[in-house]
Formats: sequence, structure tokens, C-alpha cells
Amino acid sequence: MGLHDRELRATAQAMVARGKGILAMDESNGTCNRRFQALGIPSTLAARQAYRELILTTPGLSTYVSGPILYDETIRQTTQAGLPFLQVIADAGMIPGIKIDAGAKDLAGHPGEKVTEGLDGLRDRIAEYYQMGARFAKWRAVITIGNGIPSAACIEANAHALARYAALCQEGGLVPIVEPEVLIEGDHTLAQCWQVTDATLHEVFYQLHRQRVAYDQMILKPSMVIPGKDCPQQVSVEAVAEATIRCLLKNVPATVAGIAFLSGGQSVERSAAHLNAMNILFGDQCPWPVTFSYARAIQQPALEHWAANPTDVAAAQQQILKRARCNSAASLGEYSHEMEREVALV
Ligand code: G3H
Repeated sequence: MGLHDRELRATAQAMVARGKGILAMDESNGTCNRRFQALGIPSTLAARQAYRELILTTPGLSTYVSGPILYDETIRQTTQAGLPFLQVIADAGMIPGIKIDAGAKDLAGHPGEKVTEGLDGLRDRIAEYYQMGARFAKWRAVITIGNGIPSAACIEANAHALARYAALCQEGGLVPIVEPEVLIEGDHTLAQCWQVTDATLHEVFYQLHRQRVAYDQMILKPSMVIPGKDCPQQVSVEAVAEATIRCLLKNVPATVAGIAFLSGGQSVERSAAHLNAMNILFGDQCPWPVTFSYARAIQQPALEHWAANPTDVAAAQQQILKRARCNSAASLGEYSHEMEREVALV
């Protein structure tokens, strides 16, 4: 039994409580700036602060979101009025999380493949974030499908790092979000995505077991089993839902506290529809809650609105709330296309 067992279990359950999901807003400065530049927003500290304040102060957010995942810069910031973001989150009754990996870097000897770095000094960074008030963390591994890839070496190196990270998190009191993302970029088929996701999840849980990670004190953040963006054979919402849930049922222990998907570049409607179909069609077969941990599929409409109307913060917040509510409904199998027609859903 670990020092933090009881707290970790309670936190993990709260993160995937009924009707709730996780809001990913942990873009590194590089990624955040790229998304800003695409919409003509300046790549400045002030713009990132203002945007993150807009998200976190969205009225009613905690109805649908258990907690946000923050970036190191964000967790140390305050509102323009001087209230620490961590206080805003606590006041809303949400749980703060932190992206803790150091990014995906080229894997030596393996052109086109990445390995996520950040294990050196991780114990100390976990202690600092826990002391600040964070109660969960995220580490994202990236698996690319392409000509002759992924290699077994890439899958193994990433799974090993995820497991080392998860064990350190649990030792230090943070619930680990374990995120092995099989990228949607490419022209691969549904069957190829299935095969790679199956191999990846198998290796991830082998390594988690080896490192003595407690499954009931972690959240899995997988990608969906879906054809590549450029694949000519796109498939139905139901086919994605079925392939994804079958792959998870084959590989994910029943005691894992919850599944919280990434959106991975799918449209906002598709991200909600896929999650909804999984819960409607297979909810009764799943031993874990199946919910969302989306970034783009929650933020994108709001970011676009804010870029075009920088003073209209309230309307951008309505867009955040609408996506959070749609995805919350999807986590219950209660999402419908009619919800998309409503502009304000408060
Ligand atoms: O690591 C990826 C994010 O946490 C999820 O982002 O929903 O835009 O794929 P996404």
C-alpha cells in the first residue's frame, strides 16, 4: 500500500465522475503559439495569460469539467485582477492537473519516430506540483503510423517511459493520466490503426504492470481507433466506436479508474459523436467510465471567436461551455445533433 493510495483513488474517481470529463489546456508555449499564429493572435505571454483566464473563468464550467490540465507557465499565473489560477480552479470546485512531460523528441536510430522525454528530475517536479496543489498529471507519448512504422522499439521505449512516469506520480500523490496517442495523420486504414493501437496498449499495460502501477489510481487517455485523415476509406461513427471499444476491452484492465479520450484533430462534432456512440452502444459492456479529455474539440470554436472578437470574452466562454456540455452529454450517451444548433446552452 502506498502513502497516497486513498487520495489517489478518490481523485481518479472524481476526475471521471458521472457526466464529467477533463479539459486539456496544457499546450506547450510552442503549440499554443502555433495555434494563435494560425488565427492572427500575437504569440505573447500576455495573450496566453488572457486566453487561459478566459477558459478558466467560464461560468458553469465545473458542471461538465472535473479539472483542467495546465502547462507549467499557466499553473504559476494569475488572473488580470491578481487571483492565482489555482485559486480560480479551487473556487470552482475543480481539480488542477499538470502536463509534466518534456515533449516528444526524435527517437535516435528511428527516422520518423518520437520518444517522450522528461524522466530526469521528475520526482522533484512532482513534489513541487503536489505542493502547489496539483492532484493529477499528464504524459503524452506519440506513435506515428507510416511506411514501416511504428517500430517495436518505439512502442516499447514510449510505454516504458509512460510506466516510469506513472509510478513516480503515484509515489508523489499525483494521479497519472497515461496518454499513448496513435496519431490520426496519415492514410492508414481503420484496420491498421486497430493493429497499432492494439500493440501499443498491450505494451503500455505490460510496462505499467512491471513498474507496479496501481490501475485504480490512474486514468488512460487513448486515441480512438479511426482511419487516418487521408485514408480514402472513411468509416461510420458506429464503426469507430465499435473498433475503439473492442480494442480497449481487449487490452485495458477492468480496474483502471477511467478512460478519457483525446480528440486528436477530429472535428468537434465527430469527437462528440464518437464518444456518444461508444457510450450508447457499448456502455453496458465497459467496466470503466468512458469520457473526454479534449483540447481542440473543446477549445477551437472559442479560440476562433476570441481571435475575431478579442473583447467579446463572454461569447467565447459560451462556446467553451457549449462544447463542454455536448461532450458531457456524450459521456452519458445523451448527445444529439440538435444540441449543436443551440448557440447558448447554459
Ligand atoms: O495531448 C493532447 C491533448 O491533451 C489532447 O488534445 O484533444 O486536441 O487531441 P486534443
